[in-house]
Amino acid sequence: METPAPAQLLPKAELHLHIEGTLEPELILELAARNGIELPHPTLEELRAQYEFTDLQSFLDLYYANMAVLVAEADFADMTRAYLRRARESGVRHAEIMFDPQAHVARGIPLTTAVAGIASALAASEAEFGITTGLIAAFLRDQPEDDALDVLGQLLAMDAPIIGIGLDSAEVGNPPSKFIRLFDRAREAGLRLVAHAGEEGPPSYVWDTLDLLGVERIDHGIRCVEDSRLVQRLAAGQVPLTVCPLSNVRLRAVDTLAAHPLPQMLASGLNVSINSDDPAYFGGYARENFQAAAAEFSFDADTLEVLAGNSIRSSFATETRKAELLAELARWRAARG
Ligand code: ADE
Ligand code: ZN
Repeated sequence: METPAPAQLLPKAELHLHIEGTLEPELILELAARNGIELPHPTLEELRAQYEFTDLQSFLDLYYANMAVLVAEADFADMTRAYLRRARESGVRHAEIMFDPQAHVARGIPLTTAVAGIASALAASEAEFGITTGLIAAFLRDQPEDDALDVLGQLLAMDAPIIGIGLDSAEVGNPPSKFIRLFDRAREAGLRLVAHAGEEGPPSYVWDTLDLLGVERIDHGIRCVEDSRLVQRLAAGQVPLTVCPLSNVRLRAVDTLAAHPLPQMLASGLNVSINSDDPAYFGGYARENFQAAAAEFSFDADTLEVLAGNSIRSSFATETRKAELLAELARWRAARG
């Protein structure tokens, strides 16, 4: 194993992470050079100047464009390993990682290339970084359901090492009702089910994600606070909501971090965790998201323990692994008096 994470770091699980969103600008340029790809913004300075977003779509345009540098299996493996190294430095002890298979297939990259590259880095993660992992195939909600069904069929046929499916990309105008057959098919195949909802979309999308798609976790879900009945439902069922504070600020889902509904969500008894979404684009990994929220809302050690505990309990890790990480978290708390 590389050097272990510093013991003073809050141990946590990362449940909402797009691996393509961990491509740092430096790695984008390195992979572009390696693969002979000409980028529209070929220097670090020009590339970095693109990282000002007005909404989700303005980010997605750059996020998909930058994926052009991912060509060979080794590119996907290098990206994944770079994330795991940073995750370890962030105190992440278990990571459930989404990837966007359709975004690669649409560029002519074989599914096997993307899957094998990511999976090879994940297979070594526990030994190399002390991080257990799971891989989630996220489907693009702005694409037709038949395309998603086709790619899911290919993933199942090749026995891809995925634990579940998710739903991401442009939310508004692409309601959960569009993907009922996809989620039914994944459920039949024994996969775990998560989906983005209530990031930019209305509370009705969160209701339908629960009722029509039957998901176990909601990614983001912050707009639930606009509907008190929905908050009651989510609290009663302790449905995990994977909140990403820095993402919400950078994509203008909230005006400022101070205006973020996270404290209100916690006070309502919701099962919230803190995650990083696309850390290379939004100014930080799990640690920075925790630090920013803790500083803004003056969270004490008890609240940080609740947030990290929620992430561990809401994960798809084995019961043994969850118990191990909860014990680690209890030691972290005890060391704080
Ligand atoms: N794909 C990558 N990041 C995303 C986000 N925050 N919302 C929806 N789709 C995404
Ligand atoms: Zn996301």
